[in-house]
Amino acid sequence: MQASPGHPDFSDRILEWYRIHKRELPWRGTRDPYRVWLSEIILQQTRVAQGTPYYLSFCERFPTVADLADASEEEVLKLWQGLGYYSRARNLHATAKTVAFEMDGQFPDSYEGLRALRGVGPYTAAAIASICFDLPHPVVDGNVYRVLGRYFDIPLPMDTGPGRRYFDTLAREVMDSSRIGTYNQALMEFGALQCVPTNPDCGNCPLGDSCGARASGTVADRPVKQGRTTVRKRYFHYIVPLDASLRTILSRRDGPGIWRGLYEFPLLEQQQDPTREEIDRLLREHCGPGPAEVHRTVRFNDSPLVHKLSHQHLYTTFWIAHTGPLPDHALALPETERLPVPVLISDFMDTAKNSYF
Ligand code: ADE
Repeated sequence: MQASPGHPDFSDRILEWYRIHKRELPWRGTRDPYRVWLSEIILQQTRVAQGTPYYLSFCERFPTVADLADASEEEVLKLWQGLGYYSRARNLHATAKTVAFEMDGQFPDSYEGLRALRGVGPYTAAAIASICFDLPHPVVDGNVYRVLGRYFDIPLPMDTGPGRRYFDTLAREVMDSSRIGTYNQALMEFGALQCVPTNPDCGNCPLGDSCGARASGTVADRPVKQGRTTVRKRYFHYIVPLDASLRTILSRRDGPGIWRGLYEFPLLEQQQDPTREEIDRLLREHCGPGPAEVHRTVRFNDSPLVHKLSHQHLYTTFWIAHTGPLPDHALALPETERLPVPVLISDFMDTAKNSYF
């Protein structure tokens, strides 16, 4: 087979991450197609933690494909109990019989041959073909859409024909076909542990410095899905500095995303209330050192204001920080009205004029 380096930056870094972070899972030490197939069928729609004990009991009770083929359907279903999606268990049993009785106990060693087995879709066929036979087929599933969609910052919806074709081509272009089995498992593992669907820890991601979505601030919006427009919840805490001369600080929001170029108060974006240390750190960045007395503005029985945009709901809390004299670039409150600000902030200013300032 022709060795191809794939997309060296992406694939090398995924493989390096995997070398360090991979979990020791019981099917990882084998290239026996029976065991790999068993693990992949069990792991369809099932998390590793839930699937692992089932994999181990199947291996113990049915050490070979012939043992599984010889079992009664009832016994197979019983052992499957609790995993759900029972058609998987019936297909598993049917395929075991096909392999044991019609293929002399040997799993097909081609992608197409594997794909023809009951219950083996493109993902499972690619996993078995690559792990057991070194065949250069990339695995493509929800995890992979997410990882590729983020790293390459793909704006195309993954649930449309053109989007899917684009992702399939990209998956092929960036794979490392010289180590395809390991690469595929690395990609799965990276999607499962690091590039997780919600709140991924991008600050600690070794691919972060070359991740397209991270650079563009679109991590939470990738991969794009057309079918369902998900509303993203964001939690904003604006810290409104205010000195004795009623001056405040607004700064221009840069970078991509909503409100680029508009002015806003110093912002902490996080779900939980900020601690005093977090507020002090932010104030130091924007206004220099100096003590401040901070209190939360109370609206709507203490719950945050919800500002609804088409794809985002912004749960927003304003905190007033009474500070010492602010630096020269601070603005007197009436001057702030000249600057473009999000409606959320102008509404706040209107209310605040009467209540807080
Ligand atoms: N999910 C699907 N296949 C997997 C595998 N081989 N390892 C871990 N998670 C998986």
